[in-house]
This record gives sequence, structure tokens and C-alpha cells, in this order.
Amino acid sequence: MSAQIIYGKSISDSIRQELLHEVETFKSKGITPGLVVILVGEDPASQVYVRNKAKACEQLGYYSEVVRVPAETTQDELLELIKKYNTQENINGILVQLPLPKHIEEKAIIDAISVEKDVDGFHPENVGNLMIGDDALLPCTPSGVIELLKRTGNHPAGKHAVVIGRSNIVGKPVAMLLLRENATVTICHSRTQNIEEMARQADILVVAVGIPKLVKKDWVKPGAVVIDVGVNRLPDGKLCGDVDYDDVLDVAGWVTPVPGGVGPMTITMLMANTLKSAKRAHE
Ligand code: GUN
Repeated sequence: MSAQIIYGKSISDSIRQELLHEVETFKSKGITPGLVVILVGEDPASQVYVRNKAKACEQLGYYSEVVRVPAETTQDELLELIKKYNTQENINGILVQLPLPKHIEEKAIIDAISVEKDVDGFHPENVGNLMIGDDALLPCTPSGVIELLKRTGNHPAGKHAVVIGRSNIVGKPVAMLLLRENATVTICHSRTQNIEEMARQADILVVAVGIPKLVKKDWVKPGAVVIDVGVNRLPDGKLCGDVDYDDVLDVAGWVTPVPGGVGPMTITMLMANTLKSAKRAHE
């Protein structure tokens, strides 16, 4: 039997519709959510992401600013810019597009963003609140993964979720969110022994390692939900995930395509975080 495809684009569209209704109510009170996206340098992939974020703001009627500064911008100059937006009242979310040029320390920048405006959910205080289960701005891609699972009826509670990858941006937070949803969670990484065997025990398999087509059909338990967070560019220019999509199709119960699976959810969750932050600011 062939797996059911999880179309992130269509789920993302319906969440955006829900957000649009909420934003309209919010705006009728004279309040508009505002997001600033800061791009340092001219990385082509980052430029596409930043454009898409601005487009999403426009679609939902948010106020948005895109600040493009040269690659030579110093860390202190970037910190000054963040300081300015931390206090600017019409801005509810600040996103500094990563990666940053080598001479800028990523951690110093993330730490400088106000916790309330950290719509990426990368600030240590938001990460800490996620750990202890308090209200927090949650990182966008991991919360997008949880939405995909819930909205396809694949509720994590009681399931064995195996996460391959332990990055701060995806692996660790998605594992924590799955735990919060009452899954039993195993985290695998480059030093894990018998990784295939581990993966094969998963009811829900989340893969975020950046290795093209790493996961083959013999890594997948029949009927499992396979969520592919990887986005890799092949030598022929095509995109592919960390999962060998065609190979797992007749074993998995559900699978996300790349592109069009997890990807579209990230910006949508960013929009949801910005609205949440705006609501909090006006409570
Ligand atoms: N670069 C790639 N993904 C992301 C993300 O989710 N947030 C930020 N700030 N930069 C990124």
C-alpha cells in the first residue's frame, strides 16, 4: 500500500486562513501585528526566505520591515539595530536571518533579542520555558511539525517518536515538543549505534540531519509517519529531503514530500508567533 502524503502547503494555507480571521478581529481594535526581518549580507537562499517572510506578512495584513545590511556590518552595529527594534512599539517580532557572517557571534545576537519579540523561539529563556513546559514562543519548524501531525490525525500521545538529528533549531526542540505531546521520544544522532534499528521502532519518525536521502525503506516501520525536515540541493539543482521519498513510499503510512511538506509550515508558524506576541503586548 502506498503512504498517504502530508501536503504541508495545503495545511499551511488553512492555518493562514485561521490567522487571517484572528488578525482581522485584532485589527478592528486598531492593533496591527508587526515583524522586522534583518538580513546581513547577500546569501541567495536567505534572500529567498526573507522575501517569502515579507510576502506572508503582506498576505496577512501585518506591518513588516525588511532591513538589509551589508555583510561587513559589525556585531556592535547589528546589536544596536536589535536594541532599536526591541523598544519600537509597532514591532512585535524580530527575526535575524541565519546564518550570519563569520565575524558575528550568533549567540550574542540571539541573546540580545527581547524574549517577548523572539519569534524564532531561539532565545535561551524561550528554550528554557519550552523545557519546563511554560508558555513560550516556540521555534517555528518544530511547532510546524507538531501541527502537521495533529492536523492529519497523527496525535503523538502514547506513540514512540524517534528524532534523527540533535540541532538546537530542529532536533532538540522537536523532541521536547513531542514529549510535551506525551510521545515516548528517542533522539538519534551521528554517534548513535544501530540507527536503522532505532528508526525502525518509530511510530513517528522525524528526520533533520541534512544528509540527502539518508532514510531508506528498511529504516521505516510499516505504517509509520515519516516527517522529513531536510532540504538538500542535489548536483542537478533539484531539492530533496533526508528521506528517500520514493523508496519509503510503499512502507510508510504517511510521509511529507520535499519540497511542499514541512517547509511551508515554518513561515506560517512564524506568522502565528508574531500574532501571539502582538496579542501578549496588548493584554
Ligand atoms: N535560517 C534558516 N532557517 C531559519 C530560521 O528558522 N530562522 C532564522 N532566523 N534563520 C533561519
